Amino acid sequence: MAITLNTGFKMPIVGLGVWRVEGKEIRDLIINSINIGYRHFDCAADYRNESEVGEALSEAFRTGLVKREDLFITTKLWNSDHGHVIEACKDSLKKLQLDYLDLYLVHFPVATKHTGVGTTDSALDEDGVLDIDTTISLETTWHAMEDLVSLGLVRSIGISNCDIFLTRDCLAYSKVKPAVNQIETHPYFQRDSLVKFCQKHGICVTAHTPLGGAAANIEWFGSVSCLDDPVLKDLAKKYNRTVAQIVLRWGIQRNTFVIPKSSKVERLKENFEVFDFELTKEDMDLIKTVDKKHRTNQPAKLWGMDLYA
Ligand SMILES: NC(=O)c1ccc[n+]([C@@H]2O[C@H](COP(=O)([O-])OP(=O)(O)OC[C@H]3O[C@@H](n4cnc5c(N)ncnc54)[C@H](OP(=O)(O)O)[C@@H]3O)[C@@H](O)[C@H]2O)c1
Repeated sequence: MAITLNTGFKMPIVGLGVWRVEGKEIRDLIINSINIGYRHFDCAADYRNESEVGEALSEAFRTGLVKREDLFITTKLWNSDHGHVIEACKDSLKKLQLDYLDLYLVHFPVATKHTGVGTTDSALDEDGVLDIDTTISLETTWHAMEDLVSLGLVRSIGISNCDIFLTRDCLAYSKVKPAVNQIETHPYFQRDSLVKFCQKHGICVTAHTPLGGAAANIEWFGSVSCLDDPVLKDLAKKYNRTVAQIVLRWGIQRNTFVIPKSSKVERLKENFEVFDFELTKEDMDLIKTVDKKHRTNQPAKLWGMDLYA
């Protein structure tokens, strides 16, 4: 199941996110997920496993498991490479062993001190606060992203972690419109206005952290997980599904793409089995009531400052 982006290319609705997957786990994860039916992979230079993803993809192509044109591969420009967009994209392509990307995203709308292409460091200043480069705006970065399309290195370009104002600005100055805004959204952080704004203006929304980050974000950020929510648990019983499947189905029915991460084969299957049932309008409305406006992915805890404040 796929939806056509504003560039005319189709993006599968469910993808596999590979953040926090260790290099040695990647090969089996990618091969298993292709066997299950995944055709969309969400990567990033900052996940520091592009080379291992590239090895796995190359094996999948070499053995005839899948063809390049049947996969949709996303990766992302890290903050420290905003002044080096073309080199950073080429570095990712090399690591991924690809000659084009389906989607290249600006990971965060903020440039930081350059530390060498592809190194993805987040340099902090002497006070332990993220060292932001104030000479590079998202507009400057975006025009370099547009060049990637002209060069044939990337089919679609997009933004990530952008609010309504930044997205509006990007629409205003872009020659190539952003195809996607990848944002955190799940039942505990629904962000209906931002989702509606993007969709109204032809920008598809990819829900990152679509399960609310579950155990991983409890461990990393002390977050609260929507998978433990009593209303969602009751819905899971009602539909004879797991809570994760209810949460992903809700994401799909609000026309967002979902890119859950799991390192477990059973969960990869579970997270992909979300196309054979439908939540009623009443239950979609019920899920609206559980919103806690709770961002579970909190880079502020790593960067000494809250970019969203
Ligand atoms: N653009 C951005 O700034 C940004 C930020 C964050 C994430 N992302 C992207 O979004 C992807 C997903 O985000 P995420 O990994 O942070 O969060 P997530 O997919 O919402 O949740 C991942 C957590 O859920 C667990 N899990 C997966 N399936 C489950 C299931 N069926 N039942 C119970 N638990 C389950 C995983 O554990 P196991 O692995 O043990 O199953 C892991 O602890 C990332 O991999 C990345 O590609 C992008």
